[in-house]
Amino acid sequence: MPQGLTRTTVGIVGAGPAGLMLSHLLARRGIASTVVDHRTRGQIEGTSRAGILEADSVRLLTDTGVGDRVLRDGRPHDGIELRFAGTSHRIDFRALVGESVWLYPQTDVFTDLADARARDGGDVRFGITDTRVTDLLTDRPGILFTDADGRPHEVRCDILVGADGSHGVCRSAVPESARTHYYRAYPYAWFGVLVDAPPSAAELVYTHSERGFALISQRTETVQRMYFQCDPAEDPAAWSDDRIWAELQARVGGVDGFALKEGPVTDRSVLPFRSLVCEPMRYGGMLLAGDAAHTVPPTGAKGLNLALADVRVLAEAVAEAVLRRDRAALDSYGPRALRRVWRAQHFSYWMTSMLHRQPGDTDFDVRRQLGELAGVVESAAGSAYLAEAYTGWPARRVG
Ligand code: DHB
Repeated sequence: MPQGLTRTTVGIVGAGPAGLMLSHLLARRGIASTVVDHRTRGQIEGTSRAGILEADSVRLLTDTGVGDRVLRDGRPHDGIELRFAGTSHRIDFRALVGESVWLYPQTDVFTDLADARARDGGDVRFGITDTRVTDLLTDRPGILFTDADGRPHEVRCDILVGADGSHGVCRSAVPESARTHYYRAYPYAWFGVLVDAPPSAAELVYTHSERGFALISQRTETVQRMYFQCDPAEDPAAWSDDRIWAELQARVGGVDGFALKEGPVTDRSVLPFRSLVCEPMRYGGMLLAGDAAHTVPPTGAKGLNLALADVRVLAEAVAEAVLRRDRAALDSYGPRALRRVWRAQHFSYWMTSMLHRQPGDTDFDVRRQLGELAGVVESAAGSAYLAEAYTGWPARRVG
């Protein structure tokens, strides 16, 4: 084989959880893949991401031999608190739908998958530059890049998968005439912090308040993750620890006296907020998965779970296409994945719109939201919808 050329069955752009899980699932079926990413392992591990895994996401990890750490260090959560008008209301997932979610950060899922790929001899190349995809309408698509040592390199494959996130090169390589973007912008963002403090509540607290949304999440016994709705142009550096705590306390405070346990803020950032679906999820020999194909607002933590659900379906379609030597098997992937994607789009949008303040909202709008929240917590049917969507629609029912 000429220097600078790798031939493989599946070329994957993006070594986040979607790309690595796909590579892992394919390896288990005896299908070779090469994964490339412009980030280093350290860069990926150093970025704070969401922390909730659906029951099926955990099963995908445990059923395929990468579940040791999630079972040891992850924490099952059997419900959440919805907090509004100054009091908390528990949504009991176990009682309503017989499922739990797991608190286990996305960066840990990445580490587990990267370790598993290294252990199993997977071909994963971090820290590459100048990535481009080419010949997408042929049966030999390619990934062109400069490798970590500065040399030009080319990966030629039968099937190319774009799992390179919402700003990656793969989706933008699809001509505009060949894709439709369904897009919604939101006039706010989340201010996310990591703090050194003990947990303030047993479960996650999703808070509606006149000052805007706040989410009290967790990481460990000594580190917590919290978010509050902010202006998208907010400068994280302009917020002192005291100002952050004052804002969070003001949002969660109420007649029941609930207050957060405070400590030093160790990480702060503003998270983008948008909804996007790119259809179709295929262009010739290239298939898109995870954030490369769709983005949800973070409320409800569906992003990683959708990405894992995509590649579970994609691995099946690719395996069929490779084993039967029939690319038509790839046709089933997008339509199957999109059923779940649109359900998750609705759920994320619904949780967001029910809990956030919009600029220009009137008292009517705030009271309407409170009516909606009361309808959710006081109705078994309303609570069950939230519980079912939050814990994740079972793969056996939604593909
Ligand atoms: C977390 C993030 C979310 O968006 C969410 O809905 C729940 C938890 C988190 O980072 O812990």
